[in-house]
Amino acid sequence: MVVAIDGPAGSGKSTIAELLARRLELDCGRRFVYINSGNLYRALTLACIRRGVDVLDKDAVVGVARNASLECRDGAVFLDGDDVSALLHDDEIDRSVSQLSSNVPVRHVVNALIKETARKHDVVAEGRDMTTVVFPDAEARFYIDASEDSRAQRRFGQGTSGLGLEEIRRSIAERDRMDRNKPEGSLKVADGVTYIDTSYLTINEVYERLEKIIRLKG
Ligand code: DC
Repeated sequence: MVVAIDGPAGSGKSTIAELLARRLELDCGRRFVYINSGNLYRALTLACIRRGVDVLDKDAVVGVARNASLECRDGAVFLDGDDVSALLHDDEIDRSVSQLSSNVPVRHVVNALIKETARKHDVVAEGRDMTTVVFPDAEARFYIDASEDSRAQRRFGQGTSGLGLEEIRRSIAERDRMDRNKPEGSLKVADGVTYIDTSYLTINEVYERLEKIIRLKG
């Protein structure tokens, strides 16, 4: 089974997707692999930084994406054999990842890896184009949203950024603009998805809504 979740930065979709993958096994007896597709783009951005490749150099970035060893395992992302999950949310990666993820052949590398994982396992996959491009026929499809204010507050509260609240809000707005205007895989609310605004919901309330629908579909 594929549970596909899209939404903008800071909407809470990663938290809910990770929780789903963990709790669905306990609540429904099925083991789901959690795929955070944003982290795959982030890991490739890290690979470019480590190799001294400018993310604006499209051909060189495609070369990095095709040659890097990238893997989703146990909720973590492995780059060239190392778990790099803890390194993916610093400001340098935040600044460059939108550019890298606009690169269409790079998107194809990432999407192939995600589909390959879903051929072997039940997955909860989240990102910007899981419900539209990668899994348009998934059994359960969700769009998780939240107001710009609450998204900025949440990112600020995570404490992983050296930026102030207002700067984070601006960077989220800029990232939204780029995510919605990608040549391929742009963020949009697809026909047929279940739309949930999490601005005033707790994580448990969101979980309960999704779990009910997943049970019905799966
Ligand atoms: O979810 P996130 O903020 O960690 O995503 C990082 C970047 O990758 C963000 O700019 C959007 C982009 N992205 C994408 O283009 N497609 C996806 N499926 C997931 C993320």
